[in-house]
Amino acid sequence: MNVLVIGGAGYIGSHVALELAGRGHSITVFDNLSSGREENLHPGNALIRGDIMDPLALSAAMAKGFDAVIHLAALKAAGESMVEPGKYARNNLSGTINILNAMAEAGTRILVFSSSAAVYGEPAYLPVDEGHPTEPANFYGFTKLEIERVLAWYDRLLGLRYAALRYFNAAGYDAQGRVRGLESNPANLIPVVMEVAAGKRPELGVFGDDYPTRDGTGVRDYVHVSDLALAHAQALDALASGSASLTVNLGSENGLSVYEILEAARRITGTSIPAKVLPRRPGDPATLVASSAKARDILGWEARHSGLDSIVETTWRAYQRSGA
Ligand code: UD1
Repeated sequence: MNVLVIGGAGYIGSHVALELAGRGHSITVFDNLSSGREENLHPGNALIRGDIMDPLALSAAMAKGFDAVIHLAALKAAGESMVEPGKYARNNLSGTINILNAMAEAGTRILVFSSSAAVYGEPAYLPVDEGHPTEPANFYGFTKLEIERVLAWYDRLLGLRYAALRYFNAAGYDAQGRVRGLESNPANLIPVVMEVAAGKRPELGVFGDDYPTRDGTGVRDYVHVSDLALAHAQALDALASGSASLTVNLGSENGLSVYEILEAARRITGTSIPAKVLPRRPGDPATLVASSAKARDILGWEARHSGLDSIVETTWRAYQRSGA
């Protein structure tokens, strides 16, 4: 298939582009390179440098005639979204609607959309399945949920078929080292731990050690980015062979605490990684773990690379390769 990967130079997008190219799809990346990196483009990827805030650029890109679109271009810092909601509304809401309208105009009717576990908010029960109430605790999660609702209407009214993939905590790097660009100024736990191990930050701040979890620190479901990439390819195949629109969780179903990540990182990097306990970060639930049964049933998806050591090792190797 001829696939337009919007946000394909970013962290998850570049892994998706790699997986799709490996399956023989022809890949065009549309990216404004604001957080995506040119070095993340793979041999054979065409690049259209453009912004999803620019409807004309999107129409011109879509006019090339794609069989499907994968849309991963978004702002994703939940904390920032609470302080600068306008920025998130513009990029994540208006930008996505620009994409949908450009697709409709060009007659491209298959979309794989990056959604997030942030649509659920504070879990009412665990593991979180797709039937869990959706009450986002931050504006970022609201933008993802709102687009899911727009997608349902565009399906009904315009025949756009979509897969909304609700990622849990994306982590890890391509095990073969084919993704080179690191995220700059990361806020997520594992890249922050790596920057401490690499001597780029003095210490890790642990956001609370008094949660009702096994060691008091927050528990999350870390899912390897190569597993996420595989799910995009499987979702694309399902839609291309006529499947109805679908919304699925993508998580490893295994909860890991901040201290478990820290211990693994100390062991794997052979560095001390100083850490200091700080107050809780507002909006952080104690535990968030997925049920991925639906993705297994519908897509045949399995998280195969999402073990703790595989996630930390592949990330550390990416940091070492970059000379961090
Ligand atoms: C966050 C967002 C989520 C978004 C995801 C995408 C929030 C509440 N959630 O997930 O909506 O989809 O990023 O990137 O912002 N931690 C520390 N010290 C740090 C960083 C994190 O202790 O310096 C802890 C957190 O308290 C949490 C765990 O590590 O318990 C994971 O945090 P993080 O990597 O930021 O991901 P989430 O907050 O789960």
